[in-house]
Amino acid sequence: MSDLPVTLSHVSYAVGATPILRDLDLTVRSGAPTFIIGPNGSGKSTLLRLIMGLIAPTSGAIDWNGTRDPAPRRRAIVFQQPVMLRRSVAANLIFALDQAGLEKSLQDKRCADLLALVGLGDLADRPARRLSGGERQKLAFARALARSPELLILDEPTASLDPSATLALEQLIGKAAGEGIKILMASHDLGQVRRLAGDVVFLHRGRILESASTQAFFEQPRTAQGSAFVRGDLITED
Ligand SMILES: Nc1ncnc2c1ncn2[C@@H]1O[C@H](COP(=O)(O)OP(=O)(O)O)[C@@H](O)[C@H]1O
Ligand SMILES: [Mg+2]
Repeated sequence: MSDLPVTLSHVSYAVGATPILRDLDLTVRSGAPTFIIGPNGSGKSTLLRLIMGLIAPTSGAIDWNGTRDPAPRRRAIVFQQPVMLRRSVAANLIFALDQAGLEKSLQDKRCADLLALVGLGDLADRPARRLSGGERQKLAFARALARSPELLILDEPTASLDPSATLALEQLIGKAAGEGIKILMASHDLGQVRRLAGDVVFLHRGRILESASTQAFFEQPRTAQGSAFVRGDLITED
């Protein structure tokens, strides 16, 4: 069972009378990473939560490969500030593997493999809440991989990381993409978008202003706001 493509038709999301996302049409297909870009407050996190199925549109519809049932089949999300259980690194991961339905007898091996993959092999016994920001994001990434996702949704996972931790996470993201996992990621880091994205969806004030290949967007943005974003101007939501 696949979650892709995810199709949004006329999706709007409002909190009370405040519109957050307005009339979005978007299809997320397998392939190179898709980045949701745009200034702070443009609606990136809200869009990712809708696509994950954590919140429902106020109007319009989301379809995950032919179903409107939001229960995830092959998708996972990593939040900007992941919450860790008050347990060891390994126990956090075992919990995720258990939730994903992996047979008990296979959990220890898979846990060790995933920790080695993300570079946390030496920290298996450390309390997860003592990890640095970069280590936390690696563990959150491993927890997401525990679900064997086909679609991996990442909400600015490197926003509060230093360059070396950012590089480590970007390498993991690139590796996952290379193995065929569809990456859908929010970022407002232009360099990161250039390094990782195959195509971009540019949000501004809750609307999709542009949807293009990364190259086309950077070389020839079609809107004034897109041009300003590409130049690195500070664009606000006002
Ligand atoms: N539950 C909510 N209640 C009120 N306002 C919200 C809620 N969720 C998001 N918003 C507002 O919607 C806008 C978009 O938020 P968000 O999706 O977090 O943007 P981004 O991730 O691009 O920074 C912001 O102005 C934010 O304050
Ligand atoms: Mg956000």
